[in-house]
Amino acid sequence: MGSLSNTFESLYGCKPQVISEAPGRVNLIGEHIDFSDGFVLPYAIADRTHAAIARRSDSLVRIASNQRKDHLFTIDIADVKPGSAGGWEKYVLGVIWSLNVKSGLDILIDGSVPVGAGLSSSAALECSVAVALNLLLDLNISLEELARATQRAENEYVGMPCGIMDQSVSLMAHAGSALLLDCRTLSTQQIPFNVAEHGLELLVIDTQVHHALVDGGYAERRGSVESATEKLAVRSMRELSLEALDNARNDLTPEEYKRARHSVSEITRVHDAVEALEVSDFKKLGELISSSHDSLRDDYTVSCPELNCAVQTALNEGALGARMIGGGFGGSAIALIQARDLEKTRIAITDAFTEAGFKKPRFFTSLPSQGASARFFA
Ligand code: GLA
Repeated sequence: MGSLSNTFESLYGCKPQVISEAPGRVNLIGEHIDFSDGFVLPYAIADRTHAAIARRSDSLVRIASNQRKDHLFTIDIADVKPGSAGGWEKYVLGVIWSLNVKSGLDILIDGSVPVGAGLSSSAALECSVAVALNLLLDLNISLEELARATQRAENEYVGMPCGIMDQSVSLMAHAGSALLLDCRTLSTQQIPFNVAEHGLELLVIDTQVHHALVDGGYAERRGSVESATEKLAVRSMRELSLEALDNARNDLTPEEYKRARHSVSEITRVHDAVEALEVSDFKKLGELISSSHDSLRDDYTVSCPELNCAVQTALNEGALGARMIGGGFGGSAIALIQARDLEKTRIAITDAFTEAGFKKPRFFTSLPSQGASARFFA
């Protein structure tokens, strides 16, 4: 952390008091169901965002990033409310606002989670700030409450109607495990995910595309699910079975029906995936991952040609399963592959992208890593 504290000192003329870190995530399965009281199974990746923070004696909040050293954002704490100025700084301001912080702060961010890749760089940023403030200001807020506070920051300050998955996993993940999260109660179970022991690898394919639909498309899909929930007079998609949904099909528009079918079937797939992992049945896990993709592509319609190409090519190369992850319309896909097939899968996907005239994809692999943490800077 030498360079972060040195940059902090040269920028602000003092040492940081607290340094924190929070990871991005991939999601094994359980997509677009966190806002429907669903269950999800993400894990934290090794890439993380660091925050260095010190209290100020006045009411100014200053925010800078190691990635954009030329720009220092300054605002009075009294003006930190939804609708304030700021670009990416709003993710930081939103957390300050939702934690009801009243003192001035100097903040330096250093992010290494790829932005726009569907790996939750925004949640990593929010959570790095949240755990740092929790320690610095002695707020004593539980991880569950921090997840709700950071989600509120994104919903109400940034204006993105996301669910609670990304923030929860960034805060609560354990190394070596995927996190089974009940998105209603925020209770969790750590599910060991040791693919390497079984000669497997989880390949992350960043399509490097970010379609314009992202935010509007997300809100529109969520709206359809919510109107279906209302029409069917259930508390959430969690209360529905596929059979009950089919019986009520005529009460819904065809679109609401399809969105709801994705939600209900995806919740079941998460439970089935946990069962498969418990007996190390990776073939079954792979099939569930691929069915999740089909449902996101056909029923929820949040995939795109680049994601479909990555998934199909990985499957053609022998992947056990593959699917898009995150919000969709671009970002990343995952493929559960034999470790020995890593190189040939990467080459095949790169070739398929070139042939289709798509941007060159990027590849990552990451074992499940630890959630956020903060420490005083000595
Ligand atoms: C985005 C949101 C999450 C979740 C996923 C889809 O990452 O931030 O809350 O809804 O999309 O599963």
